Amino acid sequence: MIGNNNSKRVNRRAFVKHTLAGVIVTAFGGTLSGFTAKSYARIIGANERISVAIVGVNNRGRALAVNFAHQRNCRVTHITDVDFRAIKKCIAAVTAVNGETPHGEADFRRLLDDKSVDALVMATPDHWHTPGTLLALRAGKHVYIEKPVSTTPHEGDLLRKASSKYPDIVIQVGTQRRSWPNIVTAIQEIHDGVIGRPYFGKGWYANNRRPIGIGKEVAVPSWLDYELWQGPATRKPYKDNLIHYNWHWFWHYGHGELPGNGIHILDLLRWGMQVDYPIRISSIGGRYQYEDDWETPDTQTVDIEFADNKSMCWEGRSCNGVPLYNYPVGAMFYGENGSLLIGQGNEYKVFDLKGKIVKEVKSEFTADPMNRTNPSQQLDALHIQNFFSAIREGSQLRSDIEDNYKSTLLCQLGNIAYRTGTMLQIDPASGAIIGNQEAMGLWTKEYHPEFEPEI
Ligand SMILES: NC(=O)c1ccc[n+]([C@@H]2O[C@H](COP(=O)([O-])OP(=O)(O)OC[C@H]3O[C@@H](n4cnc5c(N)ncnc54)[C@H](O)[C@@H]3O)[C@@H](O)[C@H]2O)c1
Repeated sequence: MIGNNNSKRVNRRAFVKHTLAGVIVTAFGGTLSGFTAKSYARIIGANERISVAIVGVNNRGRALAVNFAHQRNCRVTHITDVDFRAIKKCIAAVTAVNGETPHGEADFRRLLDDKSVDALVMATPDHWHTPGTLLALRAGKHVYIEKPVSTTPHEGDLLRKASSKYPDIVIQVGTQRRSWPNIVTAIQEIHDGVIGRPYFGKGWYANNRRPIGIGKEVAVPSWLDYELWQGPATRKPYKDNLIHYNWHWFWHYGHGELPGNGIHILDLLRWGMQVDYPIRISSIGGRYQYEDDWETPDTQTVDIEFADNKSMCWEGRSCNGVPLYNYPVGAMFYGENGSLLIGQGNEYKVFDLKGKIVKEVKSEFTADPMNRTNPSQQLDALHIQNFFSAIREGSQLRSDIEDNYKSTLLCQLGNIAYRTGTMLQIDPASGAIIGNQEAMGLWTKEYHPEFEPEI
């Protein structure tokens, strides 16, 4: 297995060496001047190939499988899914990239003892992320885990503890904007004072999602292992409007737009504003647009206040895609001397206090946030290479579990505030909810006994 004893430490020397060799292009908090399509082409070459199994390949996982297969220092050895059609489709997509045909496997747990597999990519529905990752860590596999890493704060705690327990194992979170060069530069500019002290952040996501109808209990289709799809979730009868993708809108499996898409943007806001845990948080919204089985809000605002005179808010509109500041997805940082806008792609604008653009940085790579499968393939390759670099050289991860915990927690607390209809008071030292038994009831959840997550 490929690994490195220093993998959780910042290995500055290895980083510099690789920067010069053109293997990795991101510096922790640094900038990426001169990054071009040519240099992108250079970074996807390296000597040693890391063997990767992709878990869950209907949509995002297939895009990741293709993207991992494009990396010359990687071999996609296994494609696993509980939908047998998805396995076949994904094997064909990977084979088309480089002529190498991965093995298909229905149950990813069978790969855990396979010493030839170095890393797992967890792109299943959210309810499998933490339990599946914990199994992989216990088996000594590195993990690229899709966001949101957990469905409850308790699961997030388990991941943090596991990350400390297995310091040689690398866990990269799929909040890939952390590796996009111009975003890294934008955040560094904020830290360097381009807009003065940033005191307010606004994040948003807007789409035109269609209704999901009223589901009927029907027989489980022959192409699906529904028992394994449910895995850690307590059992519910199969309905015809749940699989695939629509599970995002049921509290039992996903948790809606906030952890699904808000996480990317709240993570940027938290990073740029240099804040950790809030002091209070509230949220309102509802399923306003359609009457169907969709449980999570299709329209939601979340207000989050931090101790040092800073706050942020997030607006999610699943069913009205009108953009803000010309972007359907974005993060705006408001500061004492101006504002900085990060839109959907690898680009940003700086405004003065009157709203005049004083600087604009554009990307030669485009990202399409409405492409729910693979919005930004070339840029995401940088995040994948950062994962590999952490495995081989111990380079600093751009999106590690410890830091991502705090961003994911903002989403989870936002949903807990929404579901309990209360303003939550939070301990800014730990992120814990203060004095609210009902809200604490949502800190964890019940599991199917066979799949209870353990470190
Ligand atoms: N980082 C990003 O930009 C980004 C973009 C899209 C989705 N995502 C994330 O990727 C994850 C998957 O989303 P999606 O849209 O592809 O969902 P999806 O429902 O379309 O696909 C999930 C796949 O996982 C499979 N699966 C379920 N249980 C499994 C198991 N035990 N073993 C193997 N496969 C299993 C399902 O059969 C399905 O094929 C979500 O967590 C989502 O938040 C991230």
